[in-house]
Amino acid sequence: MERTGVLVVSYGAREAAIIDAFHESLEYKVDIYVVDKQKNPFNLKKSTEHVVIPNLDVDKICRFVEKRRGKINFGIVGPEKPIVNGIRNKIEAKTGIPIICPTKEYAIEASKVSQRLLFEKAVPHANPRYKVFNPEDNNSTNIVRKAVYAWLDEIDNQAVVKPDVPSAGKGVGVWGDHFTTREQLFNHFLANYQYGKVIIEEKLDGEESSFQAFCDGKRIIPLPETRDYKRAFDGDLGPNTGGMGSYKNTREILPFMCTEDWEKETEIVNKIFKTMKKTGSGDGSELRGIPFYVAFMHTKKGLKILENNSRPGDPEIINILPLLKQDFTEICFKILEGSLTKVTTERKASVVTYKAPPSYGGYREAFPDQTISEEIGQPIHLAKAYRLRKELKNNVRVYPASMELRDGQFYPLTSRTVAVLGIGNTLEDARELSIKGIKAIEGGALWNRQDIADPDHIRKSVNHMEELRRQGK
Ligand code: AMP
Ligand code: GLY
Repeated sequence: MERTGVLVVSYGAREAAIIDAFHESLEYKVDIYVVDKQKNPFNLKKSTEHVVIPNLDVDKICRFVEKRRGKINFGIVGPEKPIVNGIRNKIEAKTGIPIICPTKEYAIEASKVSQRLLFEKAVPHANPRYKVFNPEDNNSTNIVRKAVYAWLDEIDNQAVVKPDVPSAGKGVGVWGDHFTTREQLFNHFLANYQYGKVIIEEKLDGEESSFQAFCDGKRIIPLPETRDYKRAFDGDLGPNTGGMGSYKNTREILPFMCTEDWEKETEIVNKIFKTMKKTGSGDGSELRGIPFYVAFMHTKKGLKILENNSRPGDPEIINILPLLKQDFTEICFKILEGSLTKVTTERKASVVTYKAPPSYGGYREAFPDQTISEEIGQPIHLAKAYRLRKELKNNVRVYPASMELRDGQFYPLTSRTVAVLGIGNTLEDARELSIKGIKAIEGGALWNRQDIADPDHIRKSVNHMEELRRQGK
């Protein structure tokens, strides 16, 4: 067995799944060097060396890598912040160690406005109608309000407000969900506008899917499609979150999709890839990694892009990694060499459910009665859930995320706490196992959505899509 050393820059459960994939390698003995946001118990256990750099500062990470020259063969980065801050440029320039993630120039999530402009060039039909409002125009609030309302007249109030920089201000707000009057919309707008540009785009009616692809710089290799549950609460209600769970069906596509949808998505993403290569300064190798996490909306007028990120989805990549038929370490080497031509996955379904603390996703405010619990402030116990992995032949996997080690125990922090993946021959089986794992996690007053991959939720998405296709004819 060949030995190799890998740097993993980690934020949460997504990277625990990446580390698991390296650990499961049959062809390589992988020494894993983790730079983590927190003391993730899974990552701690599986790594050769584990350090915590809470803000994932690129210079600090680079210094960690410089000191381990000769031990680390390549690196892989999960979270977007260090990618946007140019982690690949810096580490490669200073150490020569190749990193799997796009360079700063191609960190597409840095600006939603730049994304829309890129799509306008590459795939105009996949852009919703939108307008950009720029505080640097220095218009008075009254003039801005007039311009916003004039645009709302044009799109009949059916609007989505998005800050240019994803983490700035109040985030994405959707008409009918987060505001129901123009005044409320404008307040949401202003809360973002004080930090920079804001997009107001038409609200799309449709079904969402997450497209992901490995890229070796030369080509895009699409991965099976997944469905993310972005909203905090059952029935797709409440604020947007990082994703409360996700599923993958037994085939490459989701139940409400047809094969043609997936082909069209791939065509769209390839056009974006080619345009980026043409307009960028490199030959494409700067894009290697998972530069295309694309959230699509399937509408009656075809596919529209909600957003594009240059990193794997969390939780969506967790649905896929354990089902890869090829060795993940081998895939990484091919990505680095520019020789990845094919990736195949098992014909199995998988469901991820996240547990989160009451402070996450507006849960405490929405359900004050349910958050008065003697479990608050208590540690989390994962042992029972961990045992299921062995008992159920690797079909239940527990990936911790935002929790910290204190006095030998793990306590929830403020973000999503722990993800449980269930794998099965059917979606129902996979869902049952994910829920089984979730139920086996004790302590911490954690909550989770109950309807991830729920047959009713899926049926509704299929019916909705059939109706939209009829309307679109
Ligand atoms: P984004 O960060 O752009 O992916 O937006 C977060 C969520 O807001 C998406 O997952 C959708 O549920 C919703 N959303 C974003 N853009 C639109 C849109 N144009 N129409 C309807 N919903 C949207
Ligand atoms: N789950 C959504 C994302 O990773 O962006």
